Amino acid sequence: MQTIKIATIVGSLRKNSLNRQLALEAGRIVGDRAAFELLDYSDVPLFNQDIEYPAPNAVSRVRNAVKSADGICFFTPEYNHFFPGILKNLIDWLSRPMSESAPQVLNGKPAAVSGITPGMSGTVVAQDHFVTLISFLNMKVMNQPRLTIPNANHQTDESGCLALTTHLPFLEKQTQEFIRFIHEQ
Ligand code: FNR
Repeated sequence: MQTIKIATIVGSLRKNSLNRQLALEAGRIVGDRAAFELLDYSDVPLFNQDIEYPAPNAVSRVRNAVKSADGICFFTPEYNHFFPGILKNLIDWLSRPMSESAPQVLNGKPAAVSGITPGMSGTVVAQDHFVTLISFLNMKVMNQPRLTIPNANHQTDESGCLALTTHLPFLEKQTQEFIRFIHEQ
């Protein structure tokens, strides 16, 4: 199999974000089966059509990383039964064409969605909203398996670090399936 590139986007800027830790664990699972890049978009400004062109440097950097990736892994928290605003802001930027002649970079790109939360929902409600958004933007969403992890406090060690005491096999399965899904495109 040829080497593929997976770009990863986490919908939390929190230093100890559980979703970020989950993304890093996915990267460890991917190993040498793909190049795995966790995208830092903390410097992407709030979307404003007045500053859309030329694109701010941070936006160009993230757009180029997405454009060159073979697939995008999203890890989203759930805020008020939705996905966080920072993720919507980033997707709004990415949804706009790079220039008059270049299409938006999410078009046709394979996507996997995962999330972890201390609550009971496991982020499933947030994920459903998010899938509606990225489907509208014509991403190729891997609908199964999707990873929703509830009760995060059962998945951490004494120091609050993610240990995936019961859900590691589900993350392994989803990661493996997403690599296969990308190769099938
Ligand atoms: C939350 N949280 C939350 N959890 C949940 O299961 N359903 C929800 O609707 C919400 N709503 C919500 C709103 C806001 C504004 C905050 C700040 C938090 C809890 C949230 O899932 C928890 O803080 C996660 O740990 C956040 O993800 P990271 O930062 O750990 O990745």
